[in-house]
Amino acid sequence: MNLNNVNNNQNCDLSPSNNGPFNKLLQSKIDRLKNRRNKVQLGTVSFDSPLLLAPMSAIGTAPFRRLMEDLGAGGTVSELISCHGINYKNHKTREMLLLSPHEKNVGLQIFGEGAEAMAQAAQVVQEYGPKFIDINMGCPVRKVVGTGAGSSLLKDPSILPHFFKTIKKSIALPLSIKIRTGWDEASINALEIVHIAREEGIEFVAIHGRTRAQQYEGQANWEIIEHVASNAALPIIGNGDLNKIKTIQNRMQVSHCRALMLGRGPLRDPFLFLTPYIEKDEAITFNGEDIFEVIRVLLRYNREHLEWQALRPEAKIDPAMDHKLNINIRKHLIWLAASFQHVATFREMIFKTQSVDESLKIAEDFFKDERNSKRRDITDDTFMTSGHG
Ligand SMILES: Cc1cc2nc3c(=O)[nH]c(=O)nc-3n(C[C@H](O)[C@H](O)[C@H](O)COP(=O)(O)O)c2cc1C
Repeated sequence: MNLNNVNNNQNCDLSPSNNGPFNKLLQSKIDRLKNRRNKVQLGTVSFDSPLLLAPMSAIGTAPFRRLMEDLGAGGTVSELISCHGINYKNHKTREMLLLSPHEKNVGLQIFGEGAEAMAQAAQVVQEYGPKFIDINMGCPVRKVVGTGAGSSLLKDPSILPHFFKTIKKSIALPLSIKIRTGWDEASINALEIVHIAREEGIEFVAIHGRTRAQQYEGQANWEIIEHVASNAALPIIGNGDLNKIKTIQNRMQVSHCRALMLGRGPLRDPFLFLTPYIEKDEAITFNGEDIFEVIRVLLRYNREHLEWQALRPEAKIDPAMDHKLNINIRKHLIWLAASFQHVATFREMIFKTQSVDESLKIAEDFFKDERNSKRRDITDDTFMTSGHG
């Protein structure tokens, strides 16, 4: 028997594990791959692996980030959070700052245009206990750019020394930024921005390899990312289109970046932080049953987070909670089912569900039936072509 072959779920122990949230079989595969990861230090911030979860609005919530860390992400960054919402004590905005007590290597990302407003917000963010604070300088969305925030900050680098200095001196936590390569093809200035960032004490920079003008079109330009990474005096995190195991493995070998960030890939393949660590000829695979297990845990984390939030004195109980949770879980289910044979019928059924329990039952049947079915390679499909960075 091939001792490396742990992909067959039949006759294996699916009872709960003592080491983590998943059943024993899945947890053992995860632990085995997790042990191969190396820690990475970016400035003063340490991460458990060089593969990090990218910030994603309405997706990178505390329960999702916690799940991704369990599934091998070396660290995570929250969705973008408005500095003005924080400063105006907007209830919903402040809720976005709440971390799960189980999260380890998490950064909270804020966005805004004015140095003073950002500094004031950063002080509040600090109280919520992230490991670092990240500034969004990549959001291409017109509503954000129109105010001078997000990728608009790349347009006039002369304002950045004051911008960074003001925020930096208001907090004791490490500060990082996430940028695009430039505003447009004619003004690629990532390297210049990184130099300014270094002068002002920013600890590391994540670069999404597209310009603002590109939005999500074409491919991320890794030549530019690598050029910056090999010439910059700050640790660089490379980001963009890392959806395939092979691409990630290659990039891990050749890159001048100190870490890589994955956004959309793990939404459809939640094991993408671990599978690059599978060795040649080693048969560790993850099937439909494993994916259902991931969903079960995501749901549990969402419920725990809501219960925990509800204990806070200022909490507002939302009677439509199950409905909201169902909408959230349905979107994950559809992403996770994308590579399976009968996804079209599944999608239709899931869109009609009225409760979380109903969605879960349909998902359980689907992922267990499709447990060992052949899956399509969907890593080249265009997927989610709008976002906030
Ligand atoms: C739905 C969605 C939401 C996003 N939200 C944010 C965000 O809040 N902050 C940010 O800096 N980038 C955001 N991004 C950009 C991602 O962090 C990442 O840079 C981009 O998706 C490219 O990486 P990928 O090809 O691995 O997805 C978002 C992207 C998507 C698709």
